[in-house]
Amino acid sequence: MSEVVLAYSGGLDTSVCIPLLKERYGFDRIVTVLVDVGQPRSDIERGNRRAKQLADEHYVIDAREEFVKDYIFPLIKANGSYEGYVLGTAIARPLIAIKAVEIAKQKGIKNLAHGCTGRGNDQLRFEAIFRATDCRVIAPMRELDLAREWEIDYAREHGIEVTVTRDRPWSIDENIWSRSIEGGKLEDPYFEPPEEIYGWTKKPDASKKALVVEIGFVQGVPVSLDGVPMGGVELIELLNRLGGEHGVGRTDMVEDRVLGLKARENYEHPAATIILTAHKDLEHLVLSRAELRFKVMVDEAWSELAYMGLVEDPLYPDLNAFLDQSQKRVNGSVKMKLYCGNAIPLGRQSPDALYAQDMVSFDSQTLSQKDAEGFAKYHGFQARLLKRKGLNDVLKPVSGKVPEKK
Ligand code: ARG
Repeated sequence: MSEVVLAYSGGLDTSVCIPLLKERYGFDRIVTVLVDVGQPRSDIERGNRRAKQLADEHYVIDAREEFVKDYIFPLIKANGSYEGYVLGTAIARPLIAIKAVEIAKQKGIKNLAHGCTGRGNDQLRFEAIFRATDCRVIAPMRELDLAREWEIDYAREHGIEVTVTRDRPWSIDENIWSRSIEGGKLEDPYFEPPEEIYGWTKKPDASKKALVVEIGFVQGVPVSLDGVPMGGVELIELLNRLGGEHGVGRTDMVEDRVLGLKARENYEHPAATIILTAHKDLEHLVLSRAELRFKVMVDEAWSELAYMGLVEDPLYPDLNAFLDQSQKRVNGSVKMKLYCGNAIPLGRQSPDALYAQDMVSFDSQTLSQKDAEGFAKYHGFQARLLKRKGLNDVLKPVSGKVPEKK
């Protein structure tokens, strides 16, 4: 008997995969694995309903705690972002893939399938995990080169209720950290996104009174809201709600996918915006200038790997080791104002601040201002040296002469 484990979301693509895996690939049994990474309850329930109707065996795995602890917390330490936006979809894929592999191992199944197309990043992220096993990898959407219209007809023929319509054909991916909306008219980068694509955020409203929240951090991860200790899942859910009320965390951009295709992408991520803004702000209070300069490069390298789904590259734990070490002093709290689509730091404090008010203050007498004079004499010294020689015009060749051979 031939069996296959399908990483299943309950959406249109992965639902259509179930009959396809039987009819086009000849599998006898389809085992679906739906991983709860904080998508809406209704999505999970829809997935369970559809799996009951279409699949032979179905697993739902609540991985929210694990997702926050092992994927979102490292992301916060790394200020994870790609081309300026908060990473979301990318960081959930490895975990979903790992859970599917675990079920396949438990059941001795040697075939793994996903419902990603051949155009995006997600196929790469799933397969970076899947291909590390000795299983066959099946990607029906990509291999059969299916168009969305065809899929919709095929779904209807197989009794799958279709919720996407011609006017609202959005492809949505959600987890607790971020919501992504793609497709339809949004594929025209000039098309202005209609309000209806947003599910987590209200339209920014300048007449709405601001809300101030204080986020507490221990070793680089958020642990409390307004002084009340809170677990990661609860804290992120609450900040998504509060930030969403004030329209915080919308992104509309053109993104470079790994394959090189540019794509128009819309995202919502209120909690992520609030937490990352606060986290970066706190880092500036506690880390040294040298640490901050170097860490930007580590953050960038970490984000690039995370975007590509390469969490099994040995560089990933290398970078995480640096990040963990760098976060030991990232303790304290940041007051954040949520107002009209913005999350603005109002103040920050830390027991580990690298800050000396007694020295920096305009009123300070601790350090003599005169001591800086010697420093100032050497600052920019080389540029002045050139100027003295009349050689400071950067557009001119320095001497215009090739040195003579001695
Ligand atoms: N472009 C984003 C990424 O690669 C999001 C993809 C999410 N998929 C979706 N169907 N909305 O991370």
